[in-house]
Amino acid sequence: AVTVYPDQQTASKKVAARIADVIRGKQASGEKAVLGLATGVTPIRVYNELVRLHKEEGLSFKNVITFNLDEYYPMKPDAAQSYVTFMYENLFSHIDIEKANVHIPDGTLAADDVAEWCLNYEKQIEALGGLDLQILGIGRTGHIGFNEPGSAPNSGTRLVTLDDLTRADAARDFGGKANVPTKAITMGVGTIFKAREIILMAWSKKKAPIIKKAIEGEISGEVPATYLQLSDNVEFVLDEDAASDLT
Ligand code: F6R
Repeated sequence: AVTVYPDQQTASKKVAARIADVIRGKQASGEKAVLGLATGVTPIRVYNELVRLHKEEGLSFKNVITFNLDEYYPMKPDAAQSYVTFMYENLFSHIDIEKANVHIPDGTLAADDVAEWCLNYEKQIEALGGLDLQILGIGRTGHIGFNEPGSAPNSGTRLVTLDDLTRADAARDFGGKANVPTKAITMGVGTIFKAREIILMAWSKKKAPIIKKAIEGEISGEVPATYLQLSDNVEFVLDEDAASDLT
């Protein structure tokens, strides 16, 4: 399904409300909510709204377990550009989630330990019964998570090489493209696909061409987001600018 909202703020509130529904639904039955989370500029207002719901409307995250999509590799958790820093600054430091329930790919692993760590990430998600809801942004390469062009539909969590365009888009955060790590650890397309519900968000004209390809283009590993066309559990949530190239 594709839903277009007049602006990012309205759309972000709707997505946050959906996340809150999942959390409260699980709370009501004494269960944990397992959420897959994204970083980047796209979900920031969703996180702002979740913080507001926590502070002003009593939404608790005590029963929430999170798994982030990805992290640069190598990356120290306390670095300004790490996705650990991003998640604490934008969400976790402002809510009542238990630190032990937060999972983010580890950018400090020794090369030899990465493969086993990635398998374990998958196992932890499975042991909890899978992801209830996965939030996604989309890169201009068509990546979801850091599944760049060439990613397989059944791929799992793994170490990947970032596309040149992805590194160029991240250059500002790192003070130049040369400083952007060349690799990342990411959940796979297959990992994402197993989520019971997936919401991909995109805002602004900058995303309009890739959104057109993702939603209307031929399904292909060249644009990994096109795989989402194969799932009935996906909602594309767009602002009018990101939707402006759709026919
Ligand atoms: C981030 C992630 C990426 C971003 C994408 C869009 O965890 O997995 O796929 O969602 O690169 O980034 P922004 O939102 O900064 O345009």
